[in-house]
Amino acid sequence: MTATVPSGYDPLASAGDPADAAPEPLIRMAAPVTGEEEVDAVREVLASGILTNGPFTRQFESAMASLQGTEHAVAFANGTVALSAMYLASGIGPGDEVIVPSLTFISTATSVLHAQATPVFADIRPDTLNLDPDDVVRRITPRTRAIVPVHYGGQAAELDRFREIADDAGVLLLEDAAQAHGATFRGRPVGSWGRAGMFSFTPTKNITTGEGSVVTTDDDELAQHLRLLRNHGITRQYHHELVGWNWRLSEMQAAIGCVQVSRLAGILEIKRANAEVMRGLLEGIDGVTPPEVPAECEHPYMLYTVQLDPERRDDVSRALTAAGIENRIYFPPAHRQPIFAHLPDPHLPATDAAAGRILSLPFHSRLREEDLAFIAEVLEGALTA
Ligand SMILES: Cc1ncc(COP(=O)(O)O)c(C=O)c1O
Repeated sequence: MTATVPSGYDPLASAGDPADAAPEPLIRMAAPVTGEEEVDAVREVLASGILTNGPFTRQFESAMASLQGTEHAVAFANGTVALSAMYLASGIGPGDEVIVPSLTFISTATSVLHAQATPVFADIRPDTLNLDPDDVVRRITPRTRAIVPVHYGGQAAELDRFREIADDAGVLLLEDAAQAHGATFRGRPVGSWGRAGMFSFTPTKNITTGEGSVVTTDDDELAQHLRLLRNHGITRQYHHELVGWNWRLSEMQAAIGCVQVSRLAGILEIKRANAEVMRGLLEGIDGVTPPEVPAECEHPYMLYTVQLDPERRDDVSRALTAAGIENRIYFPPAHRQPIFAHLPDPHLPATDAAAGRILSLPFHSRLREEDLAFIAEVLEGALTA
């Protein structure tokens, strides 16, 4: 049996996307790195007969905890439920406000709703596209319970400032590190700065289990609470201490995850070298701003998002698509989505401006220098046309 779905297929982005009608791109946004090692790992699971809640889940959790520098990592079926679990286990509930960016995937905010709390959108910095600490301070109220920076494209938000702001206000710092495996801020891994952090493993990420996630934390009680929420509150067989869900990761996915974690350093090395090449190529082109990388950040380049003149951005996007280069607006702001239309406008000028300027280019680790040169050439052609 052969797979017919192209590698890098992203279910998050494709439902009803007009790009579905476009011809098959030559250069896709994502290309997961998987091989015989993953096949062998899945085979080993199948041969063992333990398909869920087994040794590979524990091994994957321990590999992620050690990668991100935390005591615990608790695996979940996907990042969206992991965010809900992280919010719920942190005691967030009705009447609470949680400060989140709007330039993010929708579930940073909708998981707050799943916890029956209220997402409060804050603005971003125009250069890094990460949450703006000063704007976060302005939005803190007596109801604020947590601040959730998203590490946009994988690049760390200003975690030292957010920790200070959260401590001063007596609220929690929780990280949405969905895109940020292996990223550091001031040399310390993301996911270890706040009470907890969430990492997703969908196929567009630098490492993938198809679907899956972990929540990292140093807090023993929080880790135990997360495990209970994941598995129906079971403390022993058919004994339920709290109302939970089935949010477990399968052993097949965990086994793939163990191999993927071992691949990450190599993938990041290629991506960081490619980022140097790409910066060199784009620096010579008028009208395009490559990603801003502050000295404190080691960027994992899950995304490579450039900023363009808003008058030209859509032309550039169309030219890239016509040349077979997939490209995407990561993300249309959450606060502009129909599900939030009933809320007062949070007034996010930097987010709204960025929404017209950003364009994410393919940047997976299988790209060669000639692919990068082709992307830059088409981009330059569109800007000078
Ligand atoms: C910033 C961010 N938060 C949350 C999620 C949700 O993760 P998942 O798709 O695994 O549910 C994603 C997924 O892409 C994401 O990019």
